[in-house]
Amino acid sequence: MHTRYCLALDLQDDPALIAEYEAHHRRVWPEVVASIRRAGVVSMAIYRRDTRLVMLMEVDETFSFERKAAFDAADPAVQAWEALMWKYQRALPGAPPGSKWQLLDKIFDLPAQAPEPAPQPRPGGGSAMSRTIVVATEKPFAKVAVSGIAGIFRDAGYQCRWLERYTDKADYVRAVADADGLIVRSDIVDAEVLDAAPALKIVVRAGAGYDNIDLKAASARGIVAMNTPGQNSNAVAELVFALMLTLARRGFTGKDGTELRGKTIGIHAYGHVGARVAAIARGFGMEACAYDPYVPAARIEADGVTPLSSADELYRLSDYISLHLPKTKDTVQSVGYALLSQAKPTATLVNTARAEVVDEAGLMQVMSERQGFLYGADVAPARAAEFTEKFPGRCVFTAKKMGAQTAEANINAGLAAARQIVGFFERGDATFRVN
Ligand SMILES: NC(=O)c1ccc[n+]([C@@H]2O[C@H](COP(=O)([O-])OP(=O)(O)OC[C@H]3O[C@@H](n4cnc5c(N)ncnc54)[C@H](O)[C@@H]3O)[C@@H](O)[C@H]2O)c1
Repeated sequence: MHTRYCLALDLQDDPALIAEYEAHHRRVWPEVVASIRRAGVVSMAIYRRDTRLVMLMEVDETFSFERKAAFDAADPAVQAWEALMWKYQRALPGAPPGSKWQLLDKIFDLPAQAPEPAPQPRPGGGSAMSRTIVVATEKPFAKVAVSGIAGIFRDAGYQCRWLERYTDKADYVRAVADADGLIVRSDIVDAEVLDAAPALKIVVRAGAGYDNIDLKAASARGIVAMNTPGQNSNAVAELVFALMLTLARRGFTGKDGTELRGKTIGIHAYGHVGARVAAIARGFGMEACAYDPYVPAARIEADGVTPLSSADELYRLSDYISLHLPKTKDTVQSVGYALLSQAKPTATLVNTARAEVVDEAGLMQVMSERQGFLYGADVAPARAAEFTEKFPGRCVFTAKKMGAQTAEANINAGLAAARQIVGFFERGDATFRVN
């Protein structure tokens, strides 16, 4: 038996702060989400109109506000999050000092008035059977993920259609004609695809990076775009260490190598993958530092990682530099000569983010000037052959993008995408919205 609560709070009347607040809520810290769930909250959604926030929360029988407050008080990450949120939030008029979300009184209840129980409202309208979800994957999900996704949609009463290993974009465009929801992997979702799907309300990229979705085009058509953050972070983080070990052990060619223990790893961007890299680095006995201007220092420190205030410092201090930047207009080509030339002469750069965040010409120049500089990438540079030829034994590239290519990541991301689509249609939950 679940109980629903409705709460309200205000934001500071500043569009920049409101945008920051929303950005934080697109990637709420995992510790905070875990603490919410631990307290017995089964669903939570926050809505905003101008500066007013309204939260809908459903809880199970284990929940009480006192118990949740005790969980929050005992968790330093939650405390750091709450302190950060005060930057954006403003107590409601008349709220007790220091208190945030205020419970609202229920003043109308349809089932209490109608003789027959009212049907559950469905965001977007329509009945469950009318939902058609297309899963378009040029590189298909693993079999077990496919049956899991199919099961989630079957249980929800949705129709699910699969388009796998397509070679012609026209097939893809045709397949989305009646789609209410769309799941993709690295498949491109551009204006042409969106225009071909007049009923489309949501597209979910099963994975972390969502640069394959034209967000502007989606927003212009009122289509919600989501990713499934965190679902493949461990797979990518393990690959970081595979690349580092391959380079440290000189390609396992019989030559002497070096160890990771005691070395410093600089984590450039401390998101889901970055945090997982830090956790694994601890096991290797490495020192970890991180630079991420959007993550509070306290959050990074709580993981035993040294937060740095500039990328320059990170590059100067690190023996290994691991890139976890998203591909955005600000990050494309941002790792170039200016940054890399500050690194130690024997530093190793590992890129499991996106090829485009590295300026290849700058990297090539640094590698030419420093014979000990090594490069490992999941996303081979455009000039991969030139790198390998110029710097034999100093580069390692995967045959294709493989960071998330594990059975576990494939399953996690696929199931998360399906659950997010059902959550969106059934409860209006847009937690992982990216546009
Ligand atoms: N190789 C693969 O198969 C693979 C798989 C998953 C993710 N990725 C790539 O890795 C990236 C990171 O994944 P994630 O799950 O950690 O994403 P995430 O969204 O959890 O983290 C991204 C982090 O980058 C930070 N950031 C943004 N701009 C920055 C800047 N200019 N300087 C420093 N930090 C900045 C953000 O604050 C955030 O903490 C993805 O965007 C994706 O491109 C690759």
